[in-house]
Amino acid sequence: MSDRLGKAVVVIGAQWGDEGKGKVVDLLTDRVGGVVRFQGGHNAGHTLVIGGEKTILRLIPSGVLRAGVECLIGHGVVVSPTALVEEIGELENRGVPARERLRVSMACPMILGCHVALDKARELARGKDAIGTTGRGIGPAYEDKVGRRAVRIGELASPDTLRERVETLVEYHNFSLQHRYGQQPVSVDVVYEECMRAAATIVPILADIPARIHALRRGGAHLLLEGAQGALLDVDQGTYPFVTSSNTTAGAAATGSGLGPTAISEVLGIVKAYTTRVGAGPFPTELDDDVGLQLAARGNEFGSVTGRPRRCGWLDIVALRRVLDVNGVTAMCVTKLDVLDELEEVKICTSYEVDGKAWHETPVGAEAVARCRPVYETLPGWKSSTLGARRFEELPPAARAYLDRMQELAGVPVDIISTGAERDDTIVLRHPFD
Ligand code: IMP
Repeated sequence: MSDRLGKAVVVIGAQWGDEGKGKVVDLLTDRVGGVVRFQGGHNAGHTLVIGGEKTILRLIPSGVLRAGVECLIGHGVVVSPTALVEEIGELENRGVPARERLRVSMACPMILGCHVALDKARELARGKDAIGTTGRGIGPAYEDKVGRRAVRIGELASPDTLRERVETLVEYHNFSLQHRYGQQPVSVDVVYEECMRAAATIVPILADIPARIHALRRGGAHLLLEGAQGALLDVDQGTYPFVTSSNTTAGAAATGSGLGPTAISEVLGIVKAYTTRVGAGPFPTELDDDVGLQLAARGNEFGSVTGRPRRCGWLDIVALRRVLDVNGVTAMCVTKLDVLDELEEVKICTSYEVDGKAWHETPVGAEAVARCRPVYETLPGWKSSTLGARRFEELPPAARAYLDRMQELAGVPVDIISTGAERDDTIVLRHPFD
């Protein structure tokens, strides 16, 4: 026991995902004893670049490349056993001892073949109204969790009862697959074998995650709680129904991990210097002109999991302010500032116009957001490189003015600026563990 409990810092995406959370979590892990994922599944793609080598993590927390950091997957995450084993294999083939560093909650609901089949069948059936999901089975797996019929990953340790549990679940879903969607049924044998193949790798790393979290904190170790996707994809507070099926906002860091909410000392909101979105749904500041294409090209805006091109647009302060409020964000980390380097001017959306009236709040739900027209404030561009800057003073004055204006409008300080994909291309004005 240490005299002082370790701090817990939550990192969330403050837009529609892909803000660069993985890099920031990896950077901050030099000060922590554990990194915890608390929601989402392998729909996430967290890209880390260290010494020019790129690693894309989907399920495993972005602390796995550091020795001495426990990587914990909390019960709020839906886990595809096949995807988990694959990711462990990829890391171990590169010499990263993933299984030594990783523990998975026994209570995680599993994503199985029937969930993937249902996700795809539903998207097909929605036609032009498709959500644009990642097709990973995320939504159907969360439905099973709240429907109290999920097969949880801890059940991999009981092969005798597992077979019957898988059979009941697969047959339940086969009914809709065949009779609602006119698709082929999923084979119980195939799903059961999928589970049994993964069991040998996963069963030894199953653990009681709340117990690990509290043991680490009582020993004085700090924790990072790593969000996936972004706050505007939150199932309750995002642009419903064009959202993911989990709570991506900071409160889920407590419910999805087993950490009490009073233990959270800071919430760091990761904000891209502009905005991107993958999949369908309203996006008030979307650009369908050359500037949008330029942002996509310079920012390499393609999904790290699905490879889909991301939609690009200006920074939206109205949406951001709501996100900062509902997540209790204490500081922002701005990423990909360098993508704006070549622009003559940069814009920030400071309010909306809805049916001819000024609007200063993000309305609820996709239909209402779709009616918002952005009202912009224009700032001069800096037309010089910010790539790789490591001190605030190295940034050109116009880039500093952009960041200043951003924090002034948002009402929350910018504590970290990421200036490139490499771990060290970062300006840390205040470290959340100081
Ligand atoms: P699902 O999470 O696969 O059900 O997809 C629902 C929505 O969330 C779609 O618009 C996806 O493009 C989006 N989404 C899911 N995961 C991510 C992510 O990691 N980054 C960005 N968008 C995501």
